[in-house]
Amino acid sequence: MITILGIESSCDDTSAAVIRDGVILSNVIASQAVHERYGGVVPELASRAHQQNIIPVVHDALKQAGVTKQEISAVAFTRGPGLLGSLLVGTSFAKGLSSALNIPMVEVNHLQAHVQAHFIKETPDDTNRPEFPFLCLLVSGGNSQIILVKSHRQMEIIGQTIDDAAGEAFDKCAKVMGLGYPGGPVVDKLAKQGDPGRFIFSKPHIAGYDYSFSGLKTSFLYFLRDELKTDSGFIGKNKEDLCASLQKTIVDILMDKLYRASKELKIKEVAVAGGVSANSGLRAAFEDYSRRYGWKIHIPKFAYTTDNAAMVAISGYYKYLDGEFCGKDVAPYARVSI
Ligand code: KG4
Repeated sequence: MITILGIESSCDDTSAAVIRDGVILSNVIASQAVHERYGGVVPELASRAHQQNIIPVVHDALKQAGVTKQEISAVAFTRGPGLLGSLLVGTSFAKGLSSALNIPMVEVNHLQAHVQAHFIKETPDDTNRPEFPFLCLLVSGGNSQIILVKSHRQMEIIGQTIDDAAGEAFDKCAKVMGLGYPGGPVVDKLAKQGDPGRFIFSKPHIAGYDYSFSGLKTSFLYFLRDELKTDSGFIGKNKEDLCASLQKTIVDILMDKLYRASKELKIKEVAVAGGVSANSGLRAAFEDYSRRYGWKIHIPKFAYTTDNAAMVAISGYYKYLDGEFCGKDVAPYARVSI
């Protein structure tokens, strides 16, 4: 029996999860409300909140799983990429626990973990998982990538954003409309009551499978600026249609490249991961492409879309099986590829 405790602290969510033989037993997440009033994550405040949260979160994860500390086979933690001060809290905690319990440590790449979330089993006989090779669209506040996943660890980025991430596009446009932070979920909610064909925003023309979202952000901003000159109440009156049209544009941009990659590489097994995969428009587009093009799609449970430790624990589990441990001298890294 292999029991992995996963720790995630790369940004503003402190999370701990327990996975036993690949099956999820608990996944506790403490989000940090402290950043809301600043309209974005404040790194120093994030690391302080992680320090306060980490012990109770780990305690709750073990309690919910019905697992004692002595039963943990290894502790897996996010080494990067992320905010250095935040990563330090999780890394240091993992080191302390590993020393105290005399168990191995497994370092996990946060981006790989988002992809690996598709292998978390809900029950021991859960067989719903992607088959290799598959494509994974990783879309979050910091990433927009198309990943060719060849095995649990062999992953290749075949396309990525050259400027803003899809989540940033949602958040920045939402901010312009005064919808608060993070704006992605609010845009999603309002879009459900709006007309996606009402406004047309520009789409980028970028070679290959790469993305770009900064042009869309600028065109959205200029469009609103011009409308507001003649009608100061324009945003309030058209919020739903603006959100629906914006969401449709972002989803179309994401799906166009993903479709092209799927067609050219002849891969019909397609997954989505990261915070933006919670978006209902993107989920609906996946369902639509599945019907139209015979894609076998993999959409994560909501709990595994944003940052969570379950995905870290499952990544740690596969590394544990391969005996891939790290030393106590391990240091977090803010930037690293997949
Ligand atoms: O993966 P994630 O939790 O962490 C970061 O990379 O920070 O992703 C957060 C991003 C934010 O940009 C947020 O606005 C976006 O995911 N997001 C959404 C939705 N839920 C979260 N964007 C659009 N629609 C949603 N339902």
